[in-house]
Amino acid sequence: MSLDPEGYPGAVVSLFKGGVTKTSTSLNVAHQLSERDSEVAVVDLDKDGHLTSLLGYERQLDNGDDIGDAVFGDTDPGDLLVETDFGLHLLPATESLETVEGRMKDRSFGVKLIRTEVVEPLVAGDIDYVLIDPPGGRGMLHDAALVAVQRVIVPLIPSAGSVSGLENLLRRSLVPLRKEVPLDIVAITPNMMRESIAQESGEQMLARELNTNEEFGETAMDLTYDGFDHYLPEYARVDPEFFAVVADDDRSVAATYPEIPKPGIRYRKAINDATRHGLPLAEWEPTNDQIAAFDALADRVERASPDPERERAEAADA
Ligand SMILES: Nc1ncnc2c1ncn2[C@@H]1O[C@H](COP(=O)(O)OP(=O)(O)OP(=O)(O)O)[C@@H](O)[C@H]1O
Ligand SMILES: [Mg+2]
Repeated sequence: MSLDPEGYPGAVVSLFKGGVTKTSTSLNVAHQLSERDSEVAVVDLDKDGHLTSLLGYERQLDNGDDIGDAVFGDTDPGDLLVETDFGLHLLPATESLETVEGRMKDRSFGVKLIRTEVVEPLVAGDIDYVLIDPPGGRGMLHDAALVAVQRVIVPLIPSAGSVSGLENLLRRSLVPLRKEVPLDIVAITPNMMRESIAQESGEQMLARELNTNEEFGETAMDLTYDGFDHYLPEYARVDPEFFAVVADDDRSVAATYPEIPKPGIRYRKAINDATRHGLPLAEWEPTNDQIAAFDALADRVERASPDPERERAEAADA
């Protein structure tokens, strides 16, 4: 398979696990990117069309054309974009997504179709960055999303199964795909962090795993965009020594760490409320302290992506 060395500007927000904040993270990172004076499209590849319905769009567009017609027909995906009130472009999910994956498998290079028929024309048009909310599980459609932008943000939450979801994603998708195309982890981000990491909690376990686990840590580091020194953004990092001190004697924690670190994107009711109303956090509550984390992720996507202007010229030639 011959592919460009770089993915088009953007990222897929992915983990093989439900309810880990893929959709809300896609929405918020996309919005922060658009606040940086960029035109950003969010492509809803989730068959449930959760993002699409949150943003108030029906699954079937009026003129009947949808993503299936872009992937397999002559429809320009730019014509399928709908505008949100806050300046994002959405490529809505429709019922045809249920058959897109099956039809893809009948094509010899099906895994390239999201790249060549959806993302490339968007970037050749007015779109600078493409964020993809992928199907929840493993499959050709998920891989096709990765092949298009070749960059991934991994959200995790403090519940059993998050880290094994990450191990699965690495082992069953990212590592094998990486043999065919360059692929970068832009960030692994804990989200919905609520309890203190100074006591035994899902939060402590997740922060410890991400900051100290050598097993997947080495693989993840291998896949991390080489402009970054860690797969964890600054806001998610904890001195690994912290966990040794906690394990040793938690009374000495307060002495050694007068301020207990609060890593990750924190649990905020406002994030949940915003998503429920189909709005990015920054539109719902512009003073919320967690906007900075989404902005840090947007910054990483921007830094790891090729220059949109150059890509526009190349995509137009392709
Ligand atoms: N930091 C946060 N604090 C509070 N609620 C949050 C936070 N981040 C996300 N949520 C909420 O958690 C819920 C699940 O998130 P989301 O729908 O984005 O997950 P998902 O991975 O896309 O789920 P699915 O697997 O169903 O597609 C949503 O209601 C969302 O608003
Ligand atoms: Mg979702």
